[in-house]
Amino acid sequence: MNLLIKGITAVLPEGGGYTTRVTDVYVGGGVILSVGAVPEGFCADKTISGGGKLLVQGLVNAHTHAYMSLFRGRADDLGFDDWLFRSILPMEQRLLPDDFYWGTLLGICEMIRSGATSFLDMHMMPEKCALAAKESGMRSVLSRGLVGESRLDKGGLRRIREAEADIEQFKGCEKLSFMLAPHAPYSCSPDFLEAVAETAKALDVGINIHLSESAREVRTSFVKHDLSPVALINKTGLFDLPCTAAHCVRLAGGDINILSEKGVSVVTCPVSNLKLGNGVAPVPELLQKGVTVALGTDGAASNNSLNMLRELSFLALIHKGVRRDPLCVTAHEALKIATLNGARALGLEKTGEIRVGFNADFAIMRLDTPAMNPPPVGISSLCYSDCSSSVETVIVGGEIIMENGCIKTIDEERVIFEAGRISGRLGSAQTL
Ligand code: NI
Repeated sequence: MNLLIKGITAVLPEGGGYTTRVTDVYVGGGVILSVGAVPEGFCADKTISGGGKLLVQGLVNAHTHAYMSLFRGRADDLGFDDWLFRSILPMEQRLLPDDFYWGTLLGICEMIRSGATSFLDMHMMPEKCALAAKESGMRSVLSRGLVGESRLDKGGLRRIREAEADIEQFKGCEKLSFMLAPHAPYSCSPDFLEAVAETAKALDVGINIHLSESAREVRTSFVKHDLSPVALINKTGLFDLPCTAAHCVRLAGGDINILSEKGVSVVTCPVSNLKLGNGVAPVPELLQKGVTVALGTDGAASNNSLNMLRELSFLALIHKGVRRDPLCVTAHEALKIATLNGARALGLEKTGEIRVGFNADFAIMRLDTPAMNPPPVGISSLCYSDCSSSVETVIVGGEIIMENGCIKTIDEERVIFEAGRISGRLGSAQTL
């Protein structure tokens, strides 16, 4: 479908940052054909009037667990171990296969409504999560969570086989791609991680892992292995593959150099790290060392929101406060982290900016809301004003998946009904 977005204020890349300009954007074959001039022979199948609207490249949620939206608000104000081992994991055991499908769709609806067009998901249920992602029309990178006590662990090997089957079943789906997701250094033995690295290499897929999230993880790693979690993972060979590491809050001396040298993408999840009391990732230092830093919400069990504009706001603000430096992580840097860098971390080529030849992944936002006025609207509005209610239309690969506030690919009312039904069956967290 050829799409023309006419006379819209577009966020365009300029000199390492961004600028806004009123222009026409031409889309065909799922990519941006032209910004400004009419491509030769172009005939629009659909024209969107851009008057009073802002066109932003789609946000990339580079770390989440969409199905965990079912656990929203069920394990709040707990320390990391009580939250994970005594609340979330027991609840997860009670989910039925179809629950993962509905939970994933619930998370996806929230992401779309915040202007996200791509996400990297770590899930625990093959087929169901991929099916939900495929139906939604979002650009999705899916990774089956893996845990294992050794490379001979039967459960661990079964999970690896499930991940392989998922990749085989959904290969060729245009907007789906895959990674392997060893859960974390504390839930996988080093030799199991080596086995995962070997499988990922054979399958030609990247790695998605939680890394250096809590102080306890780092302490335990030094006690058990005499290495930091980053140094330990480096030894397993996982960093020799394209690797996306979520959190990286507690980095020991030398860790940042390893991440930089190995080209590891770090996904910072500021709200999740704040809520679980884990701290604040050293994003300015990582950027300084040339590490690709992306942005993720993590799951709704530790956030409790998959709203990427809210996350963007935290990213742009928190380092200023912690460092007492108002120039730290500017609005332009934050937007790049939440879009172009996210796409790079996910292995998505030509994605994350409004640029000719790039995937036509956009959010269209209303400019007639109080939070977006008075004009001119700048990049700063996206980071510092509460503008997520302004997201009106979302386009992924030239396909309109939300139009005028209505998600077209998902029966949102049904998803909310099913999430309520599942929640009722799970009972309250205290009764688990
Ligand atoms: Ni996570």
